[in-house]
Amino acid sequence: MYIVQVASECAPVIKAGGLGDVVYGLSRELEIRGNTVEIILPMYDCMRYDHIWGLHEAYRDLSVPWYGAAIRCDVFCGWVHGRLCFFIQPKSQDNFFNRGIYYGASDDNMRFAFFSKAALEFLLRTNKRPDVIHCHDWQTGLVPVMLYEIYKWHGMANQRVLFTIHNFKHQGIGGVDILWATGLNNEEYYFQYDRLQDNFNPFVLNFMKGGIVYANHVNTVSPHHAWEAHYGSEGYGLGHTLHTHSYKFSGILNGVDYDIWNPEIDKYIPAKYTAETLENKVKNKKALRDRLGLRHDPEKPLICYIGRLDEQKGVHLVHHAIYHALLRGVQFVLLGSATERGINDWFWHEKNFLYSNPDAHLELGFNEELSHLIYAGADMIVVPSNFEPCGLTQMIGLKYGTVPIVRGVGGLVNTVFDRDYDENHPPEKRNGYVFQHTDFQALESAMDRAIGLWRYYPEEFEKLVLQGMAYDYSWKDPGAAYLGVYEYIRHR
Ligand code: ADP
Ligand code: GLC
Repeated sequence: MYIVQVASECAPVIKAGGLGDVVYGLSRELEIRGNTVEIILPMYDCMRYDHIWGLHEAYRDLSVPWYGAAIRCDVFCGWVHGRLCFFIQPKSQDNFFNRGIYYGASDDNMRFAFFSKAALEFLLRTNKRPDVIHCHDWQTGLVPVMLYEIYKWHGMANQRVLFTIHNFKHQGIGGVDILWATGLNNEEYYFQYDRLQDNFNPFVLNFMKGGIVYANHVNTVSPHHAWEAHYGSEGYGLGHTLHTHSYKFSGILNGVDYDIWNPEIDKYIPAKYTAETLENKVKNKKALRDRLGLRHDPEKPLICYIGRLDEQKGVHLVHHAIYHALLRGVQFVLLGSATERGINDWFWHEKNFLYSNPDAHLELGFNEELSHLIYAGADMIVVPSNFEPCGLTQMIGLKYGTVPIVRGVGGLVNTVFDRDYDENHPPEKRNGYVFQHTDFQALESAMDRAIGLWRYYPEEFEKLVLQGMAYDYSWKDPGAAYLGVYEYIRHR
């Protein structure tokens, strides 16, 4: 099968979070299974160009219709660790992608509406006719809309679209100017409740809703989150739309690329290890402590947090976890990136406050290499999310023998099973700690159970580590599930 992924991220060249990992990892799995995959991305100035091989111009002067005129683009092409990627670069002075991934500026909707339009125009002009176009998140929500309303009439009637929602909180909102810009020239038609009109504000259009309405199939990234979005409040206002389109909505759990996230072969960690050579893990803990200037104390476990610092991730609980760990004589390492000013300032303040504390280190910013060492060196990883469509860090933690302590929401429910209380799994299948509520006590009691096991029952703790490492959260099963969906929509 021939599949084109259209996305705003692809690890490691451009990654803000799990979306980048998923686009890369899924594409790789699909290729291993004999499919042809190409990935279309914006050409950002902030990409890690050192991860692109053979970058060259693939199409010059692509004329992308925009506001009744056109913006010319050059399309570049190169291999990202074996995956063929096309990068769209607008040529005019209004260069949408020369300012970070998600700039947070009011024209983010225009930037990605343009990207979606350019991706389709590129497929059209180069006669690429994939069986399936797989779009990710609101940034590409207009792809199925334009495909069905415009490009279908230009020889792209047989292309099918899967729209994957990684995060319902960010939906992409725009006004009538989006319609004028993209050539969807019928205001009355699109401003309908059953098309693109936002469910709450009748005066704006919602990209994600457009994606749900027009795609041939829609999924989110775990079965439990699909349920939460459909029946609970996690759809952020799109629950009713999902309900209307429930016949084509499902949840597919993400995978982890074990060629990248695997302590047996990880090039960023000094001591490789497996379940059989688990004694080597402690060498990474030593290396991590050396690197971050933490004291070496064999009596202290080390808990980490790795992730965006955002409301979604339960920042108040993340903050509380640091001080609760210190209170219990436990070390804490945080690697986090904040986009919101208030949260950024808050954690910078804490970083300075804890600067000379030998048991805590806060590393603010994005650091892929360091993240590997932390996964390998920590004893536990805390994921106290408010909501979590899937979550990769707990699955990576499991692979590295780093016991997850998570809140029971979204994909965390599908992947972490409480050692003491999970009644759906026999004791030998349990792999971490789960708490339910968002108050400090709930988090504290889960942390205390984990810390207590580490301190007083080390053999039991090791057993739990090994049970976690035995889980297979690779792309094998999710890859097969996505192929099943592609096959299904392709023949409809
Ligand atoms: P989300 O996509 O919501 O950010 P996920 O758990 O799905 O959360 O994926 C997060 C991915 O980003 C993981 O690969 C994690 O290791 C990585 N990551 C998050 N924050 C950072 C950071 N500050 N530095 C390095 N890697 C990070
Ligand atoms: C989103 C979600 C996260 C998920 C990731 C990859 O950013 O917040 O839970 O794992 O996408 O699908």
